[in-house]
Amino acid sequence: MNDTFLKACRGEQTDYTPIWMMRQAGRYLPEYQAVRGNVTFLELCKNPELCVEVTLQPIDLLNMDAAILFSDILIPMEAMGTPLMFHEGKGPIFPEPIRTQDAVNRLRVPDPDAETGFVMETIRLLRRELNVPLIGFSGAPFTLATYLIEGGSSKVFWETKKMMFTAPELFHALMDKITECTSLYLQAQARAGAQALQIFDSWAGVLAPCDFEEFALPYVQRIINDLKDTGLPIIYFANNGATLLDLSVQSGADVIGLDWRINIGEAITRVGEKAVQGNIDPFALLLPEAKLRKRIQGILDGARDAHGHIFNLGHGIHQFTPPAQAKLAVDLVHELSAR
Ligand code: CP3
Repeated sequence: MNDTFLKACRGEQTDYTPIWMMRQAGRYLPEYQAVRGNVTFLELCKNPELCVEVTLQPIDLLNMDAAILFSDILIPMEAMGTPLMFHEGKGPIFPEPIRTQDAVNRLRVPDPDAETGFVMETIRLLRRELNVPLIGFSGAPFTLATYLIEGGSSKVFWETKKMMFTAPELFHALMDKITECTSLYLQAQARAGAQALQIFDSWAGVLAPCDFEEFALPYVQRIINDLKDTGLPIIYFANNGATLLDLSVQSGADVIGLDWRINIGEAITRVGEKAVQGNIDPFALLLPEAKLRKRIQGILDGARDAHGHIFNLGHGIHQFTPPAQAKLAVDLVHELSAR
């Protein structure tokens, strides 16, 4: 078992810097497209055998040092009782957005083993196949709330901020329920065999620091506190979160995910004793080899004094990235970081 990733999460010495990529199983891989060609995205998410297959693809093809469970952050939201659809090219849609106290009351806190058993089954199957650690994940409550309140993806978050600022009690009631669901969901993933857990806060960066502190951070802290007994490393990734770094450290996570908008060395001085994960611009994978090598070397140099560094992209890999470029990046990280 290659446990380099887990060692880096714990801040221990490693032979080289481990790498994985957010959204590493996905549409940029023709092998994923082949599986996806026969089923809808939600059918794929609910079929453990197929989830295992696409989770393994980037491990086998690109030599990643960690696997991330194939699923989606919105799967447990559907289990709360809100219909969810994925439209080609449009992303996720919740046709019945959650905007009233009645709607919040109707949301259920599902038993994760009973109602998202396919996720737990995928984890159990993967653990038999994998020789690298398996990362489980969830969305962070704020990010999940934006999808439920907006009814899908958004650019301005009008409905979300309107609820935060004009009906804060309603917003907190919704966050409370999502948090309860997410906490139980991640605990179930730990029991099923996940070896690290990442919390994706994709939209945290749209919040002012004071609002992040009031409306988002306490819920992340609660989840991470609930997970302490599992002993698993927890990664908290707030996208567009450079201005929230000092607050993110207070989440209680062991590893702080970094997007590419901040210099990694600067970020490391601010996160102190914690490990970091990141942070190359996903589009930098398009650089020609000599420049990509230089870019990767710069990040490795910047992370010299980290208490653990896991190389990653600053956000998910873009669907038009040539797989050969992703493979090149993995090989370069392994070569340039060998100690
Ligand atoms: O990282 C991995 O390889 C594991 C699988 C994974 C997916 N989604 C698969 C997916 C993970 C960890 C996610 C997380 C996720 N899902 C996030 C947080 C990370 C981030 O990108 O900020 C968010 C915000 C979502 C919600 C979501 N799911 C959106 C907005 C979309 C549509 C956008 C798009 O890229 O089309 C999805 C769909 C989705 N989730 C796909 C995949 C592979 C594409 C679906 C397809 O095959 O058509």
